[in-house]
Amino acid sequence: MQLIVPASTSNLGAGFDTFGLALTLYNTFEIEESDAFEIEIYGEGADKLPTGIDNLFLRTYIRACQELGVEDRPIKVVQKNGIPVGRGLGSSATAIVAGILTALELNDLKLSTDEILELALMFESHPDNIVPALVGGFTISALDEVNPRKVYFQKLEFPKELQIVVLIPEFEILTEEARKVLPSMVNLKDAVFNIQRAALLVSALVNKEFDLLRVAVEDKLHQPFRSKLLHGFEAFKEEAYQMGADAVFISGSGSTIGVFTRKNADEIGKFGVEMYKKMKIPARYMILEADEEGARWAK
Ligand code: HSE
Repeated sequence: MQLIVPASTSNLGAGFDTFGLALTLYNTFEIEESDAFEIEIYGEGADKLPTGIDNLFLRTYIRACQELGVEDRPIKVVQKNGIPVGRGLGSSATAIVAGILTALELNDLKLSTDEILELALMFESHPDNIVPALVGGFTISALDEVNPRKVYFQKLEFPKELQIVVLIPEFEILTEEARKVLPSMVNLKDAVFNIQRAALLVSALVNKEFDLLRVAVEDKLHQPFRSKLLHGFEAFKEEAYQMGADAVFISGSGSTIGVFTRKNADEIGKFGVEMYKKMKIPARYMILEADEEGARWAK
């Protein structure tokens, strides 16, 4: 049996730790029961992801079985990765979601979406990639203040008019490192700046007021600090807007840059690759759409 789990971009400018969007780029997990734990990884990250019991998918599967009170029967997994690792495209979230769904499926157990998310948040403290990886679409997530594993979320359909360009440089940014550069306190003016824009982004997407997106993805909480780790972001942003992009933002904690656009998607991607080439950084781009379905078993 094969599980398909989408990539996701997150934050989308002002929605730090809140917004997520599932993308038409996937990791797949072929699973069968076996005599021993075994995982083969192909594609993105195949040369560096662990294939022992410390592998994130296997760790999640085993822990999920324990939490569900069932035996963690050995499995063989063939993982085919389309999602670049460590680039802010939710690769880890796919392994976590897949590990939990596998534990449920092999034991014929059913949990509600909220219960699955509660298990998933044992492995990841931010919900913004986990939620879209599981349910698809454009998601807004809020963690409970008392129970950090309880997430309240909304899913909205992403407008089909917008193409999503992801510009992926060949260097990784670890989320943990990218969080260390953020200040622990923000001032009221900056908090208000982000609240205004986060609310604006949701309504602009719902009402298809795409000219507002450029303002709606401005942010004072993380991008100004992270752009120091992500050379090229500011220059790319400026040029992409000149070329007609609707929104430019750091995908998750980077290193990918996300773009929403109604025109010139290819040109914008090519410009980004050329820009990085001049900086002697290999890069590539993909033009994607929103995945509205989320994680699913192949039919
Ligand atoms: N929202 C997280 C961050 C990344 O920006 O640090 C995804 O978990």
